[in-house]
Amino acid sequence: MESALDYSTAKALLEWQIEMGADEAIGDAALNRYELGETMPRAAASPTVTPQPQSGTAPAETGTPAARTDATTAAREAARTAQDLAGLRAAMAAFEHCDLKSGARSLVFADGIAGAPVMILGEAPGRDEDREGRPFVGKAGQLLDRMLAAIDRGRDRAEAPVYISNVLPWRPPQNRTPDKAEIAMMLPFVERHVQLAAPKILVLMGNTPCQALLGRSGITRMRGHLTQALDLPVLPMFHPAYLLRNPAAKREAWADLLALKAQLKEL
Ligand code: URA
Repeated sequence: MESALDYSTAKALLEWQIEMGADEAIGDAALNRYELGETMPRAAASPTVTPQPQSGTAPAETGTPAARTDATTAAREAARTAQDLAGLRAAMAAFEHCDLKSGARSLVFADGIAGAPVMILGEAPGRDEDREGRPFVGKAGQLLDRMLAAIDRGRDRAEAPVYISNVLPWRPPQNRTPDKAEIAMMLPFVERHVQLAAPKILVLMGNTPCQALLGRSGITRMRGHLTQALDLPVLPMFHPAYLLRNPAAKREAWADLLALKAQLKEL
């Protein structure tokens, strides 16, 4: 006798799948990957750094040290030869050493106006950004736009623009935090991106860009303290996704926005 799932069981099963990270339908028929075994094509050329899907936590560094060194050297060379932002985007699109690329739909490069005095660096695209191919378009991005509007700035405001990008251009599985190897591998691209976009000040949103450019994290202590990196003034701030989860921290974020506005007047 055929047994149909009742509504609440089906809903609970769906919620469990989403919780486990199966949040997108990518094919009509289920694939049994145990049966496919070794016949599955490998996604990316070696050496690679293989991401470990673990929701909400940064996985341990992956790949052998030699593979990580090769990948970073390749990134440095590719970034160095990019002459402009279009060239950098093309170099990143052609970069095959980061396994995140094979799990993402889009390369999320940047948004806003290149050459703007403020460059904002986030962590990595989420699901909405991966779909649209633009950084900060989901809920956190909408909050970021409101925060910028509060100091009369915006990604589309020609008279007071910002330029927005991320440390990683590909969405990590289940939006997990990028690991140190992934950050180190993509850092040459980030550094060249900043050099080519030539902002007057960099805003680092959350721990990942702080880890990438300042070599340390601890945003609660670092936020609001102006520092230097890549020969530029740098302002760490709370990530808007953190502010969505912790609205009480908007008070500090507002103080940091005012500091940014004041700093921009001096540059
Ligand atoms: N969070 C980020 O850090 N970057 C995005 O582009 C979106 C969400």
